Amino acid sequence: MACARQVGKTTTTSLKALHVAVYEPGSLVLIISPSQRQSDEMLLRVKALYRALGQAKPSRDSGSELVLENGSRIVSLPGTEGTSRGFAGAKLIVLDEAARVPDDIFASVLPMVASDGAIWALSTPWGRRGWFFEGFESREATWEKHRVTVYESAQYDDVRIAEVRAALGGFVFASDYECVFGDTDTQLFGSELVRAAFTSAVKELVLP
Ligand SMILES: Nc1ncnc2c1ncn2[C@@H]1O[C@H](COP(=O)(O)OP(=O)(O)OP(=O)(O)O)[C@@H](O)[C@H]1O
Ligand SMILES: [Mg+2]
Repeated sequence: MACARQVGKTTTTSLKALHVAVYEPGSLVLIISPSQRQSDEMLLRVKALYRALGQAKPSRDSGSELVLENGSRIVSLPGTEGTSRGFAGAKLIVLDEAARVPDDIFASVLPMVASDGAIWALSTPWGRRGWFFEGFESREATWEKHRVTVYESAQYDDVRIAEVRAALGGFVFASDYECVFGDTDTQLFGSELVRAAFTSAVKELVLP
């Protein structure tokens, strides 16, 4: 999901995480984002939603883990190499702020999903690079894609949109609010130009 800022990505996906944990007893749900703090923040939302449901008390509740009485676990992890290894068979993996989760972390997370599990990746775009950009722009049907721009969110009216646009530069507004995977305004060469500089006509240099 490529969505604008503050449209409810984290809240909505917290509900999805809780839904899986409640309705699939014994399931594992992983929440991964660039930092432990961000992942814990999402887990806090899950806990608040769980409390709001008036369910039985969780059997374990720490800063980075919620264990339900049905045996389901929701674990929040940082998107850093090493820490996130060792989990398997997750029914749901949520990648929040996905465009900022590095490629190698995504590669290490992929095998942790169960064969009948799902990966939900949500983010504002962040330039024309990385697995989130490639997955979103790819023509292959690997991912189901959704885009929610600022114009489609009830959180924003015309006045607020105009204020945000005036306060931010063109790149940030296009990226964070119109969900465009664009070149940054600080790069010297546009990505189209860089792509055009590559050719398969030149033979690969093979060192002896
Ligand atoms: N469906 C909704 N209806 C009303 N308010 C909502 C809804 N979903 C989220 N909110 C509120 O909107 C605010 C932003 O929600 P949330 O943090 O989930 O958005 P986000 O897209 O993850 O934001 P960010 O881009 O900062 O990560 C919060 O105050 C949240 O309580
Ligand atoms: Mg969020």
